[in-house]
Amino acid sequence: MLVTAEACERNKGPILEVLRREFAVARSVLEVGSGTGQHAVHFAAALPHLAWQPTEVASLLGPLAERVRADGGANLAQPLALDVRSLPWAVPAADAIFTANTLHIMGWPAVTDFFRGVAQVLGGTGVLCVYGPFNYEGRFTSPSNAQFDAWLKARDPASGIRDCEAVAELACAAGLRLTADLPMPANNRTLVFRGTAGGVR
Ligand SMILES: C[S@@+](CC[C@H](N)C(=O)[O-])C[C@H]1O[C@@H](n2cnc3c(N)ncnc32)[C@H](O)[C@@H]1O
Repeated sequence: MLVTAEACERNKGPILEVLRREFAVARSVLEVGSGTGQHAVHFAAALPHLAWQPTEVASLLGPLAERVRADGGANLAQPLALDVRSLPWAVPAADAIFTANTLHIMGWPAVTDFFRGVAQVLGGTGVLCVYGPFNYEGRFTSPSNAQFDAWLKARDPASGIRDCEAVAELACAAGLRLTADLPMPANNRTLVFRGTAGGVR
């Protein structure tokens, strides 16, 4: 049976509307931490101009591959194993990167590795969309995000909701600048970063 996350069913519509605009002229997307594959299947089907490459840590690749085999279309590749800490990333070239609900799960060193990998793949061009909860200047945007952060840290003290400013600083070092910070349902955001060295707009 396919593994399904309720949250993905709720958020895939609103995220798609963002990606439709932000990935309009992209050709190839690398998704980091694809999880159940619900996002990959939904976005690849709705955005047929994109070649979508899902990835996941090796230990969770099985259920993701199963979903891609069951529900994936021609523009959705079989998933690749990718741990963001394994630099350089062994992934195909892409002009866009998408990740959802990952930066608060990884420890901060892995978040910094994520942006090193992003720099390697995008080379200061293209576009990166990051969906999830974020703080601003250390402040939670809602009581439910504060509760979520406490729950995350009880489970893994290295995890936690990241500051938008700190993430934008890493993106800047990766040759990207924050071009949009979009409110999403359930106190989430989509942060959009674009390369400062030209390329896909
Ligand atoms: C909360 S799940 C989100 C999954 C999916 N993107 C979604 O929105 O439902 C967090 C994901 O981050 C991935 N992840 C955590 N640490 C990672 C790492 N070091 N490298 C790559 N992915 C990682 C997990 O494997 C998991 O798929």
